[in-house]
Amino acid sequence: MAKKFYIDQEECIGCGACSDSCPDVFLMTDDNIAEITNSDGVSEEEIQDAIDACPVTCIYWEDEE
Ligand code: F3S
Repeated sequence: MAKKFYIDQEECIGCGACSDSCPDVFLMTDDNIAEITNSDGVSEEEIQDAIDACPVTCIYWEDEE
């Protein structure tokens, strides 16, 4: 199972790169902010690709204690 991740929606500029990269996982809201719709069965590589694609790097891995 992939690690948990989250979007800092305050920082999101709505560029849509994450949903282009991973449309099953990231959805643009009506306010043009990304949200996570579904992270089941998604590989860490796919999430990392979306993280790398985000121009303001506002998608983060959750720290596991
Ligand atoms: Fe927002 Fe970054 Fe996605 S700016 S739309 S979280 S690529």
